[in-house]
Amino acid sequence: QSKELQAMKDAHELLRKFYHHLLVNTKEGQHALEYLYQRGFSRESIDQFQLGYSLNSWDFVAHFLLKRNFSAELMEKAGLIIKRERDGTFFDRFRDRIMFPIFDRNGNTIAFSGRSLGGEDPKYLNSPETAIFNKSKILYNYHQAKSSIKKLRHAVLFEGFADCIAASRAGVENGIATMGTSLTDEHISLLRQGVQSVIICYDSDNAGIEAAYRAGLHLQDAGFEIKVALMPEGMDPDEYIKKNGPDKFRHEVIEASLTWMGFKFLYFRRGKNLQNEGDRLNYIEEIIKEISKLPMAVERDHYLRQLADEFSLSLDALKQQQKQYYFAEK
Ligand code: UTP
Ligand code: MN
Ligand code: MN
Ligand code: MN
Ligand code: MN
Repeated sequence: QSKELQAMKDAHELLRKFYHHLLVNTKEGQHALEYLYQRGFSRESIDQFQLGYSLNSWDFVAHFLLKRNFSAELMEKAGLIIKRERDGTFFDRFRDRIMFPIFDRNGNTIAFSGRSLGGEDPKYLNSPETAIFNKSKILYNYHQAKSSIKKLRHAVLFEGFADCIAASRAGVENGIATMGTSLTDEHISLLRQGVQSVIICYDSDNAGIEAAYRAGLHLQDAGFEIKVALMPEGMDPDEYIKKNGPDKFRHEVIEASLTWMGFKFLYFRRGKNLQNEGDRLNYIEEIIKEISKLPMAVERDHYLRQLADEFSLSLDALKQQQKQYYFAEK
């Protein structure tokens, strides 16, 4: 059993190096390398994150692995090749894609995600769940980020691989990403080691903002201090850095991130027209409920004042209202 796990890891290790070689040294990988450069990836990041390229071939990897005495059945279990029902032969899972190796916390390659170069679906093809890879336990880039995370005592959570890599290039070395799933309890226990606060820096589109809210609630339950970094509508961190450069990203996105409550002020506003009385009252009520969940009286007072100022309401009335919720919560 453990021999099989080792063989699965060995195959991933071998392929990681091979895919990387194809990307950076061969004619076959040239268009993929150009694609990455054009997107703003540097040669340093390509090496650091060990990005690669899988050939546009149906069975190159199948032959490559079998020639090296890996068992076809085992390599199928590892998610690297797929069996044809028709005749029992095997074909490559990843073809003509930019390869992002996925590392475990000790730096072993345990899976891949392959990005299509044209518009084919899926955009990112991930390894399936295997004996060595479980998406809900893996945070992308944790193996490199962990020392910086432990030193700074906080992590920056991204939605995508490209965001993590661009941020690292921009000097944000404590960045990690989930792999297209929501944040699980396993991710949270991994983060708990040495981390007090998390900056959520998801895509500033609808899906990303909803996901940021859900991730924030989950992290809040687990006792983390939360901040949320936003970019102009619709942008993701990778696009922001390409457009505005690393300094602006650090100063105007990461350092300017909102408190969790500040984010909620914006979040509950979405889809509402505050000129409309009904919407406005709804909004005020939602915010007062949120304020009543805050543990410290000074914080509650601070945000109630902010609300009173913004909507020209009496602070006393807001306090009355808030006390009702506060006691209802207890
Ligand atoms: P996005 O759609 O935001 O992609 O998905 P992205 O990271 O900005 O990708 P680029 O910049 O176009 O290359 C965010 C994350 O969701 C997962 C991947 O982990 C991706 O980084 N995802 C997305 C998948 O697993 N499969 C998909 O088909 C798409
Ligand atoms: Mn080619
Ligand atoms: Mn997205
Ligand atoms: Mn994105
Ligand atoms: Mn992107």
